[in-house]
Amino acid sequence: MVTSSAPGKVYLFGEHAVVYGEPAVPCAIEQRASVTAERRPEGLSVHSSDLTLDGFTVEYSGDAAGRPDVDVPDTLLEAAMGYVNEAVEQARDAADAPDAGFEITIESDIPLGAGLGSSAAVAVAAIDAATRELGVELSRGELADRAYRVEHTVQDGQASRADTFCSTMGGAVRVEGEDCRTTDAPDLPFVIGYDGGAGDTGALVASVRELRESYDFAADTVAAIGDIVRSGERALAEADVAEVGRLMDFNHGLLSALGVSSRSLDAMVWAARDAGAMGAKLTGAGGGGCIVALDDTSETATALDYTPGCERSFRAELDTDGVRVESDGAGGST
Ligand code: PMV
Repeated sequence: MVTSSAPGKVYLFGEHAVVYGEPAVPCAIEQRASVTAERRPEGLSVHSSDLTLDGFTVEYSGDAAGRPDVDVPDTLLEAAMGYVNEAVEQARDAADAPDAGFEITIESDIPLGAGLGSSAAVAVAAIDAATRELGVELSRGELADRAYRVEHTVQDGQASRADTFCSTMGGAVRVEGEDCRTTDAPDLPFVIGYDGGAGDTGALVASVRELRESYDFAADTVAAIGDIVRSGERALAEADVAEVGRLMDFNHGLLSALGVSSRSLDAMVWAARDAGAMGAKLTGAGGGGCIVALDDTSETATALDYTPGCERSFRAELDTDGVRVESDGAGGST
């Protein structure tokens, strides 16, 4: 039985534009998803009490097409099961053990579909735990690549490498197309506001694509986000946190122009700015979910807690570890 965990992330800059080849800079945060993989003779059984699916327990053998009999909305079930199924498939493929059966248990303190990279963290941790349980240790590069393939498949081809690379490596990373690398970042005082909701990443990515194809201003906006990311990288290299914050504000404005913000995300962004945050923006696909602000005082968190539409706020530390093994009692046999 092996347990691996992987961090969630916030986007400092560049979500959505990264889909069109612009750079993005996500940062891993210490909120983690933890996946335990244990061999069983065949099939797949998945247990979780944390994926916002209370008491979510699924047991079935067969493939993703066999819908398990549980009482949760199809979309949530499909999302959760899709990532786990594909991650297990990747592990079977990597270990050349196509028929390996698993019991998978997921624990996560990353809200599902809220822009903090829960699916990437689950995919990374699941592949790592399941391959180790089969006696195979993947390099971080291969792990990130296989986790990307999971997202690519589940999200119908609408995925960048940003989430999965960041969750695998930890720290701040820079992703531009296929080019993924770690990068230095100063200590950033992240405060997260969460509206309790979730956005539909696939639908939001598709809406930006449509806008970009229909209006020149939208294509220019995507390119302008790329310029902000490049300026943001310079500010990070100079450890100019105030400038990082200003650029985050601009980035939020441009995401809003692309139609991916929401009333509650805007309300949280403005509450953070009014409370003196150095910068605030939505993080991830948008539509609902989380904002990230920079504030080393407690003012932003307090203001968010009083903001209608904000369900909770919390401070997040940069995670420098990336994926890690929590416990390894693997037999090592396939
Ligand atoms: O909301 P998340 O954590 O799934 O992030 C989506 C980020 C996008 O740039 C909108 C899509 C992608 O795959 O990069």
